[in-house]
Amino acid sequence: MDGGDKNIWLIANWKSNKTIAEALDWVSKVGPKVPKRDDLKVVVCPTFSCLSEVKKAVQVGNFPIMVGSQDLSPFEVGAYTGEEAASLLKGLVLISILGHSERRQNFSESDEMVAKKVEQALQNGIIPLVCVQGPDTPVPDGCKLVAYEPVFAIGTGNPDIPENANNVAKVLKEKHGPPAGGLEVLYGGSVTSENIKNFINMPNLCGSLIGNASLDAEEFIKIVGECSKL
Ligand code: PGA
Repeated sequence: MDGGDKNIWLIANWKSNKTIAEALDWVSKVGPKVPKRDDLKVVVCPTFSCLSEVKKAVQVGNFPIMVGSQDLSPFEVGAYTGEEAASLLKGLVLISILGHSERRQNFSESDEMVAKKVEQALQNGIIPLVCVQGPDTPVPDGCKLVAYEPVFAIGTGNPDIPENANNVAKVLKEKHGPPAGGLEVLYGGSVTSENIKNFINMPNLCGSLIGNASLDAEEFIKIVGECSKL
């Protein structure tokens, strides 16, 4: 594989999908199929309503799957109706997807708000995964994991060209790399078991944020399988 001994992150972003029963069914199917390998970092990001059940199922099954959230509050605990503070989530999640384009578009999330969320995540030991449109989207200080997700590719069946995603990742790494401490860049947008390899083989990419194709357990198992061969 190109790119040496890099990590491969496979992050399932379920968005606003799955009942608790459906989520547990997915975990029971996918969990036993994920190989225990330090460099293969499989993460599932369910809805808030499923988080604790999914977390429990992963622990009981002793599956090598991390649990993440799709968002968190830019504020600390307090009078913020509807919000989930990082300090309340930290027992449940290791990672949080922040600044997804669907949140920027539908909930008017600004770069400033994303930066506050990153700060909350870091203060509470949660790894922030910041979604960017390209090298010009700000990457807040302390963020080491970024997903390049061009809007045209999200949920459209029209992924970016792997070489282009690789170039964007290269620029992001140059811009936010050492001495700041290095950056791992993922690609997201219409990734499937058919095309995942083309992305993770790129030297500057180390995994993927997967929406639609992560909902189906069999398809996600195939994606994990493609990456396990590398
Ligand atoms: P998609 O979504 O895989 O369905 O294109 C990716 C994402 O929005 O993270």
